[in-house]
Formats: sequence, C-alpha cells, structure tokens
Amino acid sequence: MIIIGSDHGGLKLKTALNSYLNRRGIQVVDAGTNSDASVDYPDFGQKVAETVVSGEAELGILICGTGIGMSIAANKVPGIRAALVTDVFMARMSREHNNANILVLGGRVLDEQIACDLVGAWLDATFEGGRHQLRLDKITALEKKYS
Ligand code: RB5
Repeated sequence: MIIIGSDHGGLKLKTALNSYLNRRGIQVVDAGTNSDASVDYPDFGQKVAETVVSGEAELGILICGTGIGMSIAANKVPGIRAALVTDVFMARMSREHNNANILVLGGRVLDEQIACDLVGAWLDATFEGGRHQLRLDKITALEKKYS
C-alpha cells in the first residue's frame, strides 16, 4: 500500500497521481488534503512519514507547491528518506542508490504527465544495496547521533 498526501499547492497533482496509481492497480490511501483551503504542509508530511515508518504503508508520496517544504518536514522523521525529484533520472536513482521511501513532487513545478513518469520510474526501480547500503547506514548513524 502507498500513502499519498499533499497540501493545497499539491492537491491537483495528487488527484492526477491517485488516478495513475489506480490505473496501475496499486492500493493507495489518500491522507488529504482534499480541498483548496490553505493548510500547513508539515501536518500532511508528518502523517505520511509516520505511516511509512510504522510499516503500515510500504511507500509514500508527498506533494506541495515546490516539494521543498514537504521534503524538509518528512526528512525530520527518523527512518524516512524523502527524495524531491524533478526528472526521471533522479526518480530512478532515488530508489536505486538512496532507497527513498517517500517521493516528493512539486505541484506547481511539474505537469501531470511528467509527474506520472517520475512516480513510475521510482516504483519500477530497485534498491541496489551494497555500497549504497553502507552509505544509508551512515545516515542512520547521523540520525541516532542527533536524536
Ligand atoms: C504553500 O503556499 C507553499 O508554501 C507550499 O505548498 C510549499 O511549496 C512549501 O514548500
């Protein structure tokens, strides 16, 4: 199961990505927001990040206007590797090298087709492990040092 969340700046793109994921037969839980009313992106970043870290969701997708706020917020949750991407290469590498468990997109940055391509590239990629796992272990150690 994938959990998806956005603020008002990412709502339109979230709707498009929900349809894309449904077309792919992927089970999606929508954490909101579900209206154009202005909301605070950390609330949705927290909800999605905590659901991923708990294991209830395998992966998460977060969208705000630029993706910047959501990535900053989600990465505060220990165990989250949230990757803000803008092209297919970054999306693929975020999984192969960084094992990103949350993909972050900018709803005011990307058109819908490109965003679907980014999600597809991320979902279809596989973490390579090996030397990349050693680097992720260093990130985990850094998290522990400061928490
Ligand atoms: C909301 O206006 C906007 O600040 C938010 O969507 C996001 O872009 C923050 O990083």
